[in-house]
Amino acid sequence: MAKKTTTFFCKECGYESGKWLGQCPGCREWNTFVEEPVTKKGATGARMMVPGGYKTPVVLKDISMEKETRIPSGSSELDRVLGGGIVPGSLVLVGGDPGIGKSTLLLQMCRSLACGGRKVLYISGEESLKQIKLRAMRIGEFSENLLLLCETNLDSIQGVIESENPEIVIIDSIQTMYREDIGSAPGSVSQVRESTNVLLQLAKGLSVAIFIVGHVTKEGTVAGPRVLEHMVDTVLYFEGDRYASYRILRGVKNRFGSTNEIGVFEMKQSGLSEVENPSEYMLNGRPKDASGSVVSCTVEGTRPILVEIQALVCRTNFGMPRRTSTGTDYNRMNLLMAVLEKRLGMTLADCDAYLNVAGGLKIAEPALDLAIVAAIISSYRDLIIDEKTIVFGEVGLSGEVRAVSQPETRLAEVAKLGFQKCIMPKVSLEGIRIPQGMEVCGVENVRELIDILKES
Ligand code: TYD
Ligand code: MG
Repeated sequence: MAKKTTTFFCKECGYESGKWLGQCPGCREWNTFVEEPVTKKGATGARMMVPGGYKTPVVLKDISMEKETRIPSGSSELDRVLGGGIVPGSLVLVGGDPGIGKSTLLLQMCRSLACGGRKVLYISGEESLKQIKLRAMRIGEFSENLLLLCETNLDSIQGVIESENPEIVIIDSIQTMYREDIGSAPGSVSQVRESTNVLLQLAKGLSVAIFIVGHVTKEGTVAGPRVLEHMVDTVLYFEGDRYASYRILRGVKNRFGSTNEIGVFEMKQSGLSEVENPSEYMLNGRPKDASGSVVSCTVEGTRPILVEIQALVCRTNFGMPRRTSTGTDYNRMNLLMAVLEKRLGMTLADCDAYLNVAGGLKIAEPALDLAIVAAIISSYRDLIIDEKTIVFGEVGLSGEVRAVSQPETRLAEVAKLGFQKCIMPKVSLEGIRIPQGMEVCGVENVRELIDILKES
């Protein structure tokens, strides 16, 4: 007997609980539980028979592999994040804040796929056909292979996909889709999960690649895309400041390629365009001969990117010093300032400090530590760091400078953009090829960094 009850779900991570909780034990967010009706199947006790009998396991060696086919999406940035193209039969989640450009990105992808002769179906539950047409007119010419559908009922979507048999399907967005046999409203955790489940079966069964759009929302009872991260093959997040023109597409999970890859786009009048050389883009408008500014090199996936780190350290006017950081971890900045205080005897306790990664990238890589330290010292002592100098390396708690990954890749990018001097960890220098004309200074601790900065 099926029994109707209600259960509480966390709308951030999908944690399930029999009663309401203030803080989610799964993701530690506060006030995220919502009540939803669920239908529980009654326990039968007896062992169920599987229709069609049991499957037999296969030996890994015996599985035949045809050459892996990937469909190029028409954008090299998107291909990179997907791990080399779209895999047929895969389920891809594209998450991001409302208005960031998810629909635009996917519509542009549809356009180039359709122009390449592939059958594409774009299903929108948010916009009318006219609205999609308006957007499409800004982007450019479309071919006849692109089919549009405005529908939110998943059962009829299933029917359309089965009868049309497209190669690629876009669902925009999953939070507007619903199945009638589930009692709760569209956008609720159980609807979002169930709808994704249906799409998963469709993708694997018909070998059609399905892209799902998921809005990241804090308000209301709409479930976030994190609820379905574990169900899909690939998770991409589209991020960036809505008011700045660049956008970053970040791979968070990928069953068919490496994660941490990023793609950089710029939002223009006629849709999104690729930024082929993000380093140049990020360093645009860098101040000359200013203290507190230094360039560093971070690696996102396989791609090195140069960024400018800015620090402003000044005496505080209040008892409590103010510290803020944009683009890097706030706690990491406090930790590095504590290292400077303890190991170099700098008195930073009565200083306000502001740190910024110019260009708006968010970077968690510890290889930026040494540059953050250099920027803070530069601002504190009013030392100007030469604009052709680059600094990277991880800093440990005793002030030691530790190795970073892929030093050679970083040096190559640094040389490509015309930098002449590189301050980096000494341990990373072993056995690597140094580009011609590049002066490399290996440092072992932060004190050596200060000495080099003072000399220049
Ligand atoms: P959209 O793709 O609708 O965002 P999402 O689907 O993630 O909610 O993006 C809409 C934003 O992009 C909107 O603020 C307008 C802007 N935009 C442009 O600047 N140029 C364009 O050519 C298009 C289509 C949109
Ligand atoms: Mg949209």
